[in-house]
Amino acid sequence: EQIKKGDFDHFMKKEIHEQPGSLTTSMRGRLKNGIVGLGGLKDHMRTIRRSRRIIFIGCGTSYHAALAARPIMEELTDVPVTMEIASDMLDRKALIFKEDTAVFVSQSGETADTLHALEYALENGALCLGVTNTVGSTLARKTHCGVHINAGCEIGVASTKAYTCQIVVMVMIALAIGSDKLSTLAKREAIIAGLTKLPEQVRDVLKLDGEMKVLAQSLIDEQSLLMFGRGNNYATALEGALKVKEVALMHSEGMLAGEMKHGPLALVDEHLPIIVIATQDDSFSKQQSVIQQLHARKGRLIVMCSKGDASLVCPDGRSRVIEVPQVADCLQPIINIIPLQLLAYHLTVLRGYDVDQPRNLAKSVTTQ
Ligand code: AGP
Repeated sequence: EQIKKGDFDHFMKKEIHEQPGSLTTSMRGRLKNGIVGLGGLKDHMRTIRRSRRIIFIGCGTSYHAALAARPIMEELTDVPVTMEIASDMLDRKALIFKEDTAVFVSQSGETADTLHALEYALENGALCLGVTNTVGSTLARKTHCGVHINAGCEIGVASTKAYTCQIVVMVMIALAIGSDKLSTLAKREAIIAGLTKLPEQVRDVLKLDGEMKVLAQSLIDEQSLLMFGRGNNYATALEGALKVKEVALMHSEGMLAGEMKHGPLALVDEHLPIIVIATQDDSFSKQQSVIQQLHARKGRLIVMCSKGDASLVCPDGRSRVIEVPQVADCLQPIINIIPLQLLAYHLTVLRGYDVDQPRNLAKSVTTQ
């Protein structure tokens, strides 16, 4: 086992640091001369483009990856995209039609809830597309078509490199579906250019490891940690909080910043730590005003912003700031989750919990 971990103490840390390589492997052979080629989808592209709706379905981190890809899928395809947590879809017997494309996202390809939702979608005649890390898995075998994420074997129960590779693959799927639209050509070209530079920028953000350890030291005895995001980075807030809960065993909630004044604001005081994700995109000015409102309530803020923006998000220098590289808006969740993965890792080690095998959890949940 130690040989497999190499220079790292834990698989989670190794897998976090493997992300520049796993993202490169996910994209390998799929971006040629500015065009995205996904062999597993080519025979179904016409049907997907004509779908009445795209439904993303998954559980836990895989659901969050789909949520992160939703805005770009809607923008590039002009097809409405809805989200379903697999168990909830089954509980509600949600409506699903033969004109729908159902996209099932699962690292293992063996999650019971996701596979039952797949059976349900197949019975209802939807086109079923799989996004998985596991070649030969039930999900890969039972879907009509799909794309492997090629993240490499993930051993830590906390999913890290699979999450970022799932997002990259779903961005590529959005690019491929939308490739017949002239109106989004410039945007697609910018994203493809961004994808080629992404592994280097991930390498850059991994240098925050030491800074995240220091931040973890300051949070070690907290009862709770909130994370506020919106737009492209609502998923980042949910996923960051899930990482903190599942490995550091600390209560943490990811929240939609737009909902703050509808309830969560009551929690804010000078003690409760709150991470606000405020990197540059269309939501930036709204996040600036969220920060002002939190400051007005003496909130204890940790603000994640784009490099060089510290004085914009924290003019009085009172908050802690995490600066990350700015990338294309749909790729920013890939960059932004990395400091939060590192924070969850260090919090776990400092609090003395089992990093790779958190209590009560299994890597793959094969029962309903
Ligand atoms: C993530 O850190 C969790 N271990 C968990 O939420 C996981 O993503 C979920 O159980 C779904 O697993 P899957 O991707 O293998 O379907």
